[in-house]
Amino acid sequence: MEILKLEHASITYDGVKDAVRDVSLSVEEGQIVGIVGESGSGKSTLLHSILGLLPRGAATKGRFELFGKDIRSMSEKDLLRMRGQDVAMIFQDTGRYMNPISRVGKQYTEFLQVHGMKSKQECREVEREMLSRVHLHDADRVLHSYPFELSGGMRQRVGIAMAMTLRPKLLLADEPTSALDVTVQAQVVFEMMELRRKYGTTIIMVTHNMGVAAYMSDVIGVMQHGKMVEWGKTEDVISHPTQEYTKALLGSIVELGDKRMTG
Ligand SMILES: Nc1ncnc2c1ncn2[C@@H]1O[C@H](COP(=O)(O)OP(=O)(O)OP(=O)(O)O)[C@@H](O)[C@H]1O
Ligand SMILES: [Mg+2]
Repeated sequence: MEILKLEHASITYDGVKDAVRDVSLSVEEGQIVGIVGESGSGKSTLLHSILGLLPRGAATKGRFELFGKDIRSMSEKDLLRMRGQDVAMIFQDTGRYMNPISRVGKQYTEFLQVHGMKSKQECREVEREMLSRVHLHDADRVLHSYPFELSGGMRQRVGIAMAMTLRPKLLLADEPTSALDVTVQAQVVFEMMELRRKYGTTIIMVTHNMGVAAYMSDVIGVMQHGKMVEWGKTEDVISHPTQEYTKALLGSIVELGDKRMTG
């Protein structure tokens, strides 16, 4: 089944023409897609458009289809219902999307309750379990903290845990691991792959790390100046990159045994 289809998708911000330029692609159920590309090439913009999260000043052209429905004609109510449950997002800067004056545990519980989990005790158990999966072992302290009392990497992991809790059909992840040290990064990569293995979750992940993309993904996309300049099966992109830029990215992968993890 086709989860996402873009046809000639273009996105313009107020004052920034062509943040995304004429992108056409299709993502099948259960695929892991890795999107790499230089800073400012439109990766986050593309992910935000899938969730209907572009700011007011942004204009879109072309076709944006999610689960067979036109995203651009969905009502705010439909989009809200979809977010978290069917489609979850790990933001590049999770901290910015948290309420600074509300404890982490309270926000986590509210998120679960909005999506139908009723008892507070059940929520707390799920929260502890999910936090331990992203190596936040002092779960009670984390849950009792305000976002600013946690480090950036800890906040990022809370965001990752929250996004994975409801086993979304589609997980959008914007640089999920870049703020994390290598051990925790490997754990997060493992948990994301487990999500796909156990529940068939489709994952679209933006990363600066070509090694992580090559290790995790079935399909790799490379963006440059708003265009998707490369798109194909991971093996094909690695063995026959068509762009000089992709070749340069591939050259930066450091082989660690038989695992390509750190670039
Ligand atoms: N909210 C916004 N308003 C106006 N312009 C924006 C906005 N967000 C992004 N842009 C512009 O759109 C272009 C693409 O930005 P985007 O954040 O999508 O890049 P990116 O590939 O995610 O970069 P990075 O790797 O640094 O996160 C840039 O020129 C950026 O300045
Ligand atoms: Mg970005």
